[in-house]
Amino acid sequence: MGEDRTDASALLRAAEAAAPAGIAFLDGELRFVRCNAAFEAITGEPAASLAGRTAADALPGADELVRALRDVRETGSPVADLRIDATQGGRRRRWRADCAPTPDGVCLFLSDVTEQETAAALRDALMRDMAEGLYTVDGTGRLTSMNRAASQMLGWAESELLGRSVHEFVHRPGGPAGVDECALRRPAAMTDEVFVRKDGSSFQVMCSVAPLHEGAGDPGAVVTFRDVTAARKADLEAHHDQKLESLGRLSAGLAHEINTPIQFVGDNTRFLADAYQDMWQLLMVYRECLAPDLGEVAWDERTARAREAEEKADVEYLVAEIPAAVRQTLDGVERVASLVRAMKSFSYKDTVEQSYADLNEAIRTTLTVARNEVKYVADVTLDLAELPEVLCHRGDLNQVFLNLLVNAADAMEGRDERGRILISTRLEGPDVVIRVTDDGSGIPEHIRQSIFDPFFTTKGVGKGSGQGLALARAVVDRHGGSIDVESAPGRGTTFTLHLPVNGRQDA
Ligand SMILES: Nc1ncnc2c1ncn2[C@@H]1O[C@H](COP(=O)(O)OP(=O)(O)OP(=O)(O)O)[C@@H](O)[C@H]1O
Ligand SMILES: [Mg+2]
Repeated sequence: MGEDRTDASALLRAAEAAAPAGIAFLDGELRFVRCNAAFEAITGEPAASLAGRTAADALPGADELVRALRDVRETGSPVADLRIDATQGGRRRRWRADCAPTPDGVCLFLSDVTEQETAAALRDALMRDMAEGLYTVDGTGRLTSMNRAASQMLGWAESELLGRSVHEFVHRPGGPAGVDECALRRPAAMTDEVFVRKDGSSFQVMCSVAPLHEGAGDPGAVVTFRDVTAARKADLEAHHDQKLESLGRLSAGLAHEINTPIQFVGDNTRFLADAYQDMWQLLMVYRECLAPDLGEVAWDERTARAREAEEKADVEYLVAEIPAAVRQTLDGVERVASLVRAMKSFSYKDTVEQSYADLNEAIRTTLTVARNEVKYVADVTLDLAELPEVLCHRGDLNQVFLNLLVNAADAMEGRDERGRILISTRLEGPDVVIRVTDDGSGIPEHIRQSIFDPFFTTKGVGKGSGQGLALARAVVDRHGGSIDVESAPGRGTTFTLHLPVNGRQDA
């Protein structure tokens, strides 16, 4: 029995020494009898200095704890999970205390939960108050948590999505990319995505993905995102302003283009007015000749008068020219109408959503509005293959085509003979490929690196601002495509655009 007791107390000591929590025994007067090393570390008091002191004396500031210890001693029932503010070595800490009665006093378990509580508070703030959406997924892409902002933006309650594949419900429902190829399964700093709400509507987000190692198995991820639909709208407005601005720059040429047909429409209309007068006079003579009160005038004389009037009016000429004048007038009106249509189509106001558009038509439109920029220096040949419609922001692409065309025309500067510009379209695999080739000056090797940089230009003040290709690259990137250049100085340049028919695959 005696030996058993020794064994038990040796075991207890060993357990105390190994325990991660602080453990202390106090006597009936609530004086420290002994404590383990963890208790020393938490309170910052060596066991030797604690021994014999009362809790109230040794743990100043922990009044609540002292009260709890008294309660336990007096009532004999334990107190669990008491959270208290304490100071250790001048630093404010949070302790968790659990007190249990012993035959001769009280046993106190103490752990420092400062970090744990801070982490929990941070987590609460992120989940409850953060404006950005945040969710976490496990290694298989299933939702493990979601904050309030995410829930509000997506229209799903956290509980509805817990354990379900985010890829399927939020990211790209029914999209071609499988969950394993999903862009949001790989760490990423900032990527543009489209998220889908519970009601099926979608919105554009900017999101970042960081790996999250918790528990066993493949690492999951924490995804934060923000709704950028409004910002994108503002971008589009700015782009639209740019479109109007370039239309403004083209306006002198457009005015000229419109003026020519308007002029011959005017001339022809004046001619038709005169012809009408002549015909009317002739008609009057016919009427007179047929009038009954002309009874006594011989038929011969009547026909002679009519013939004379016909000669005066030059009927043959009128009969031949009037239909031609009408045709020309209608042509002129159609030319003006098609210019106006092209201007409208060119300055097309893109929406946030992309739409399917005929790029051959977009190229023709751009050529129409820019004809005057090009027609004095080069002949443009179109070699347009049959294309499917492409998911795109067509107004933005118009801007890109315009810049490539104007650049090609500018490359003819300073030479005597007219240049040649070839615009071709092809369907190559999943992409529409557009090539703009000129036989102009070419681009010297040493500046080829820089031509896509914003504000890089070799053109004089008032001629170029160096934004065309920078804008083109930004637009093409946003479509998930590419823009490349090949050039031979002195011989010419080809710009090649690749645009995926179905738009950006990861968007
Ligand atoms: N087809 C081309 N042939 C020769 N040089 C070209 C051609 N296209 C572009 N470049 C060169 O690249 C530069 C940058 O072109 P970019 O379209 O970005 O600006 P820009 O035409 O100078 O000005 P902006 O387009 O703003 O009016 C041009 O200044 C020119 O030196
Ligand atoms: Mg340019």
